[in-house]
Amino acid sequence: MERIQLGSSGLECARIGLGTWAIGGREWGGTDEAQAIATIHAAIDRGITLIDTAPIYGFGRAEQLVGAALAQGRLRERVLIATKCGLSWQGERVYRDSRPATVRRELEDSLRRLRTDVIDLYQVHWPDLQTPFEETAATLETFRQEGKIRAIGVSNCSTAQMEAFRAVIPLTSVQPPYNLFERAIEHDVLPYASRHGVAVLAYSALCRGLLTGRLRPDTRFGDDEVRHVDPKFQGERYRHYLAAVDGLEALAQRRFNVPVLALALRWVLDQGASVALWGARRPEQLDPIGAIEGWQLDDEARREIDAILARHIHEPLQPSFLEPPRARPLL
Ligand SMILES: NC(=O)c1ccc[n+]([C@@H]2O[C@H](COP(=O)([O-])OP(=O)(O)OC[C@H]3O[C@@H](n4cnc5c(N)ncnc54)[C@H](OP(=O)(O)O)[C@@H]3O)[C@@H](O)[C@H]2O)c1
Repeated sequence: MERIQLGSSGLECARIGLGTWAIGGREWGGTDEAQAIATIHAAIDRGITLIDTAPIYGFGRAEQLVGAALAQGRLRERVLIATKCGLSWQGERVYRDSRPATVRRELEDSLRRLRTDVIDLYQVHWPDLQTPFEETAATLETFRQEGKIRAIGVSNCSTAQMEAFRAVIPLTSVQPPYNLFERAIEHDVLPYASRHGVAVLAYSALCRGLLTGRLRPDTRFGDDEVRHVDPKFQGERYRHYLAAVDGLEALAQRRFNVPVLALALRWVLDQGASVALWGARRPEQLDPIGAIEGWQLDDEARREIDAILARHIHEPLQPSFLEPPRARPLL
């Protein structure tokens, strides 16, 4: 599989990473633990060498499953673990909190759940606007000097926020949403990251399943699923997105003899993301991995893609519904 260096951290990984939000179960209609562990093993068998997770995914469950999967055999040494800090929860209520004491507690919890001594890439999940970025950056740098993390990243950050981090620490990566339907970072974060040698780990590369080609107009999502509230999956707008997927599927087959899922992931990589995160939770979902490699998009295909998007999606939506509240609750 294609590989890439993550910034100047010295870490290297395959350009497809496994995402584990769905494996955590919460907001994805529950999890099947045996399938989750089998998916992590299947990912490693297929050459994936970075697993992205977070404490918030299933309130610790995704990290526990990653830890359990890697504890079998000598798998830990074959992958980079990328986890996150900066989101806490009380009951079902999620809030941003990157204060030094909170982040320290989170780090110890993550190390325990992941059954490891060191986290390869530690990312701030969402910027905490009530804690100075410089303070969070300095706290993470302390963890790095203690040998508990190897590299530092951020997620869901503006270029100004990345700049504030970079004033204090070497920033290895940024993790923004990026897929054929959610392209906001092309105007700022993507060129900024390329200019400053910051790796881009693209999340929701399949637009939460829309770009797999498996969803139908009558596909129903449970009340507890993120897609139940995601505006792209509602009413007339959902049908427009599905029509765009049909167009992209036809193009993928005709031009490259691959499924639309492979076109979607190839596009993310060819646009300049370092790594595309693929949220799989059953082993067979990773079967099309071979179709992503060995070819590249050409200018004609890019023009056709843009024409399909322009034909069907008149008001492209960014995933702002994912954003946690900006202010900490009074606890
Ligand atoms: N930093 C952040 O704030 C942030 C936010 C979101 C995501 N992420 C990271 O990015 C990762 C990926 O993003 P994502 O989970 O939002 O979504 P995604 O990768 O765009 O889509 C995931 C969904 O696609 C479906 N899928 C995957 N492979 C499939 C296949 N071969 N056939 C049919 N369906 C398939 C699955 O849906 P079913 O479950 O219906 O099968 C899966 O849950 C996450 O797991 C997480 O690690 C980070």
